[in-house]
Amino acid sequence: MIRYSRVIGTGGYLPAEVRTNDQISQTVDTSDSWIYERTGIKSRRIAGPDESAASMAEIAARQAIDAAQINPEEIDLIIVATGTPDRIYPSTGCLLQQRLGIKNTVAFDVQAACSGSIFALSIADQYIKSGAVRTVLVVGSEICSRIVDWTDRSTCILFGDGAGAILLRASEETGVLSTHIHSDGEYEDLLYCPNPQVAIDANKHEAGYISMRGNEVFKVAVNTLGRIVDETLEANNMDKADIDWLVPHQANIRIIIATAKKLKMSMDQVVVTLENQGNTSSASVLIAFNEAVRDGRIQRGQVVLLEAFGAGFTWGSALIKY
Ligand code: COA
Repeated sequence: MIRYSRVIGTGGYLPAEVRTNDQISQTVDTSDSWIYERTGIKSRRIAGPDESAASMAEIAARQAIDAAQINPEEIDLIIVATGTPDRIYPSTGCLLQQRLGIKNTVAFDVQAACSGSIFALSIADQYIKSGAVRTVLVVGSEICSRIVDWTDRSTCILFGDGAGAILLRASEETGVLSTHIHSDGEYEDLLYCPNPQVAIDANKHEAGYISMRGNEVFKVAVNTLGRIVDETLEANNMDKADIDWLVPHQANIRIIIATAKKLKMSMDQVVVTLENQGNTSSASVLIAFNEAVRDGRIQRGQVVLLEAFGAGFTWGSALIKY
């Protein structure tokens, strides 16, 4: 008997405040047309002062629990992907466990920057396939607006806040077909966010903001995502034409178009949310997946390729027969 991790519920949350390109143009030297042409982004959501990665994770998680019609007590494992945890510890996973009011569950965080949800999905799938657990809640939740330097036009235009969730359960019916995750720690300088309280160089006095060499990140991202697509198809003995939907990490529309081209997919088969959300880091893939499930684009039985790329660098994919 093959044991799959089947998707039994999804959820998502976006904070209420919308920050448009025009609003950003009032504080830094940029314009709506520059941002939209280079990135595909028009606006992003910004969390309110009382919101956090844990509070947004709870809303997305409860939606997924409702969709799956399960009792939260049935969750064996909670994995939260975040680069913006409420606290260094306890983990956001533990804070979410407390918010959901469940006791007999293991909870922890995964930190793989924008690839976090794919890494978390991969871990969840291994735990389910091994038979160690039955039901896993995976959440990506990010409050990027708090680690963005709003005076740096090269980064503040890109990011947004939000959370996405997915519930997986062991099943004989199809689900996750394979996951593939990778890291290469050589690229620290191209994209990083310092932790000023735990400085590695006391003389550097870095603020806790995202620092990025966007142009170089762009090139590595396009090449790397092309390779992960091939790896995923080969591992499943599948052809490009077998994929019904691409759910990419939402960093830049030009990176997404390049990956779709590589797959010979029409943009009608690609789930794009970044225009009004920006890059929500580890939350983006799960938010997009949830949206396309809820609006009926992704149907049971269809093959969906999720992929992401992030600081580290980290990158990965998950092929799901939904
Ligand atoms: N508005 C106007 N001009 C801007 C700007 C902005 N918001 N940000 C940068 N510029 C300027 C630069 O200062 C530079 O000016 P110069 O030529 O006078 O030095 C010029 O635009 C070109 O900068 P560059 O960084 O080469 O632009 P780009 O075409 O690479 O676009 C990004 C910048 C950030 C949009 C693009 O590199 C990108 O999206 N990279 C990927 C980033 C990413 O996805 N990161 C997350 C990975 S998970």
